[in-house]
Amino acid sequence: MNAPADSARVSLAGHTVLVIDDSAAVRTAFEVLLALHGARVVGAADPNGALELLQREEVHLVIQDMNFRREATSGAEGVRLFREIRARAPGLPIILLTAWTHLETAVELVRSGASDYIAKPWEDARLITTVRNLLDLRSARAEAEALRGRQRAARSALAERFDLKGIVYESEAMHTLVAMATQVAHAEVPVLITGPNGAGKEVLADIVQANSAQADGPYFKVNLGALPHELMEAELFGTEAGAFTGARQRVGRFEAADNGTLFLDELGTLSGSGQAKLLRVLQTGQFERLGSNSARRTRVRVIAATNTPLRAAMRAGTFREDLFYRLNVIELAVPPLAARREDILPLARHFLAHGFRLSKEAEQALVRYPWPGNVRELQNAIRRASLLAGGPEIGTAALNLPAAHAAAAAEPELDRATVEQALERAGGVIAHAARDLGLSRQALYRRMERLGLKSEPPRSAAP
Ligand SMILES: Nc1ncnc2c1ncn2[C@@H]1O[C@H](COP(=O)(O)OP(=O)(O)OP(=O)(O)O)[C@@H](O)[C@H]1O
Ligand SMILES: [Mg+2]
Repeated sequence: MNAPADSARVSLAGHTVLVIDDSAAVRTAFEVLLALHGARVVGAADPNGALELLQREEVHLVIQDMNFRREATSGAEGVRLFREIRARAPGLPIILLTAWTHLETAVELVRSGASDYIAKPWEDARLITTVRNLLDLRSARAEAEALRGRQRAARSALAERFDLKGIVYESEAMHTLVAMATQVAHAEVPVLITGPNGAGKEVLADIVQANSAQADGPYFKVNLGALPHELMEAELFGTEAGAFTGARQRVGRFEAADNGTLFLDELGTLSGSGQAKLLRVLQTGQFERLGSNSARRTRVRVIAATNTPLRAAMRAGTFREDLFYRLNVIELAVPPLAARREDILPLARHFLAHGFRLSKEAEQALVRYPWPGNVRELQNAIRRASLLAGGPEIGTAALNLPAAHAAAAAEPELDRATVEQALERAGGVIAHAARDLGLSRQALYRRMERLGLKSEPPRSAAP
C-alpha cells in the first residue's frame, strides 16, 4: 500500500463501508484509509460475521476478500459470500479483493453489475476511485428508481381517474400526451391529432371521446380518404333524394352524431368544398344535406387526425388556413415509435399471444429496429411471430425483421411526413425537432438531406 495521493480530496462522508477479511491487519489498513476520506468502516473476519452485520447495519458498500481461512486459496468461499450478499441486497456495491491468480473468477462475478474487483496488493488511490465510482453509481440508480416510482404513481393515478382505453406505454412522452388528452377531453373544442402511420392516433381519439361529456353519446369514425369527394360529402352531411344520380335520402354522419363525437381520420384528404362545409358546421353548427337548401343544426365534438403535415398543405394552398386553426385549437402530436423506445417492449409483450414469451435476443432486436410502420408494424410482427414460432419462446428469426433496417438501427429511418411534421411543430428550429424525434441534430440534418428537405429559417412568430 502507498500513502493516499491526490485521491485524498475525495470525500466518502456519510457512507458506511463493510470490510470482510480474515486478516485484522488488512481490516485496519482499510479502516485507516477510508476514515481518512470520511467513511465509516465496519469489519468482519468471515462470511457469517459479515451477513450478521449486514442485517444490523445500514451498509453502502462492501469490500470483501475471496478466502477467509489461512489454508483456503480457491476463492470458493468468496464466491459463495458474494452470491449471498447479492441475493440479500441486489443493488449493494461489492468490491472483490482478489489475487492475480483468481482474476478470472472475479471478472466473471462483476459482470452481474454494481461491483468491481481490485487485485492485491492494491493501490490506495485506485481503491478510493473505485469506491467513489460505485457509490456514485449506486446513488444514480437510486435516484432513477425513485423517479421511476414517481412516474409509475403518476401513471396509475391517471389510469384510476380516467378510462385510458387499454393504451400501453412506458415513455414520459406518451404519459404527457395521454395526460393532455384526458385534460382536454372535457373542453368542448375540436382536437387535432397528428403523427405518422400506425403510431396510435386513433387510440388517443378514443381516450378523448371516452372521457368527454359526450362519452355516452354517439361516436362515429369516418376515414375521409376512403371515398371519392362527392360520396364523402354525402357521407358526412347526408343527401336528399335525387341530389345526384342514384342518390337516396339519407342521414349524414354529422346529423347522426348529434350530441356525440365524430372522428375524422385522414383530414388532409378532404376536398376543398368538403373543407368549406366542415368549417361552416364547426363555426355555426349548421349544414345542409346534399340537394337541399334548408339548414340543419347539429352539435358534434370533432376529433380530427392526420398523418400529412397540414402546414405544408396550407402553404401549397390545398388546405384552408381558417379550417386548420379552428381544428388545431388543441394538437396532440403522437411521436413515432422510434422516438420512444421505452414503449417497444411493453407494447410487444402486450401484443404477444397468451403463453408466448420473447427471447432476450428477440427483445434486443425489437428495441433496435426503427419501426417505420410504428405500433401497427410492431403489432403485426408480433402476431406473425406467434404464428410462426415453434415453441413458447419467440426468437429473433421468428420476428423476421428486415435485415437492412436492423443494421441501420442506431439511425431510425423516418418517413418524410414525420420529419416534416416535427419541423413544423418546432417552428423550423432544428434542435427542437431533433429532440422531438429522439435524434441528434446532425442525424436530423442527414435525414433532411436524404429526404430532400431544406431547412427553413425559424418562423418569427407563432400564428
Ligand atoms: N399505445 C398503444 N397501446 C396499445 N395499442 C396501441 C397503442 N398504439 C397503437 N396501438 C394499436 O396499434 C394499431 C395502430 O394504432 P392506430 O390505429 O391508433 O394508429 P394511427 O395513428 O391511427 O394509424 P394510421 O395513421 O395508420 O391510421 C391499433 O391496432 C392500435 O390499437
Ligand atoms: Mg388511424
